[in-house]
Amino acid sequence: MLLHLSRNLSRVAPILSRSVHSGTRPASTAATKLPSDRLLTAEEIYTREDKYGAHNYHPLPVALERGKGIYVWDVDGNRYYDFLSAYSAVNQGHCHPKIIAALSAQASKLTLTSRAFYNNVLGTYEEYVTGLFGYDKVLPMNTGVEGGETACKLARKWAYNVKGVPKNQAKIIFADGNFWGRTMAAISSSTDPSSYEGFGPYMPGFELVPYNNIPELEKALQDPNVAAFMVEPIQGEAGVVVPDKGYLTKVRELCTKYNVLWIDDEVQTGLARTGRRLAVDHEEVRPDIVVLGKALSGGVYPVSAVLCDDEIMLTIKPGEHGSTYGGNPVACQVAMAALEVLEDEKLAENSQRMGELLRNELRKLPNDIVTTVRGKGLLNAVVIKETQNYNAWEVCLRLRDNGLLAKPTHGDIIRLAPPLIIKEDEMHKCIDIIQRTILSF
Ligand SMILES: Cc1ncc(COP(=O)(O)O)c(C=O)c1O
Repeated sequence: MLLHLSRNLSRVAPILSRSVHSGTRPASTAATKLPSDRLLTAEEIYTREDKYGAHNYHPLPVALERGKGIYVWDVDGNRYYDFLSAYSAVNQGHCHPKIIAALSAQASKLTLTSRAFYNNVLGTYEEYVTGLFGYDKVLPMNTGVEGGETACKLARKWAYNVKGVPKNQAKIIFADGNFWGRTMAAISSSTDPSSYEGFGPYMPGFELVPYNNIPELEKALQDPNVAAFMVEPIQGEAGVVVPDKGYLTKVRELCTKYNVLWIDDEVQTGLARTGRRLAVDHEEVRPDIVVLGKALSGGVYPVSAVLCDDEIMLTIKPGEHGSTYGGNPVACQVAMAALEVLEDEKLAENSQRMGELLRNELRKLPNDIVTTVRGKGLLNAVVIKETQNYNAWEVCLRLRDNGLLAKPTHGDIIRLAPPLIIKEDEMHKCIDIIQRTILSF
């Protein structure tokens, strides 16, 4: 049927680039040699990605080749301060020697067994990570969004098996502005049209409340079919939206009161980024489920994890959830090293101190250009007042020209999130670049 359709399509539209299903060139007979490894210019690198890669990103024009600590270098040898840290994955700094050593030692020994068998590393990691965060158990996955999916599945199972919600009636509440990835479930809870538009139909059983609004949350939680409230302690992708002090404490109280699980998405805020090990530690509250990702590997490998206690975790039985790569020995060694670096180098403390320094200095900028400076620890954002002459994208281009990489989000917001190993003198140099750049407009 499809083949028949495709033949017709390729006959009526032969001039356009190959049409869907056309099959004019079987993939298996395509080029067999790797492309030439001659050194490409930055322009050639942009053009090649544009030609052969999907257009689902809009990168800032800079072609990076190397990273070390807080720095990255482009193909022309220019050095930049990295103020994005791969969306907070590289908290420990680029190519941290301890994490790379763990990666390569394990990579030449045993990389993947699948979970069909035991391996001698997974349990060590499980014991370490559960001890560090104070939960009974961990479920290892790879990407952040898989962690979120896992948390949602756990919450639904718990709702049916423990809370007594009728079959297929469980609801999960999310906050407006949430971001937890790009899967069908994640976009189904999104309020951002660029995430969900054109990808329906959407996952049922998801509902929304305004972020940082306790009365609306309480109304939603009263529904006896609610399994969980999944929320970021600071909304990263929404533009580093920091809720009022006490919000997380109230979330805890309400979830307990209405027997609803609190899923804490710490994929971006966790692991010392906001100045504490977890962002919820600022209010000393304990969620029911914690999702970790990104910096759990220090940016060298996709590693995510879901932590919770037995009452929730043991609702999922063998065969009901999993991942070929989840919990593989390389991921486990990398994650242990990445977590040890956070602890040994006291990165939460440094993040707290450097974040305060950064915000205090940036608040001195004229507020007709920078209207807001906000954040916690080293997860920060400045809001740029857009004019006909400039916007956040142009500010980022000029920051790049001055040796600092950052990326705009939502048009007028620039996130400022360097690796957490940044030292005070380095931070002063970066503040100077940011101030000079902004004042040049
Ligand atoms: C809060 C939060 N959760 C989940 C994710 C998804 O992580 P990943 O891109 O690794 O799937 C992100 C990614 O930015 C995030 O910021």
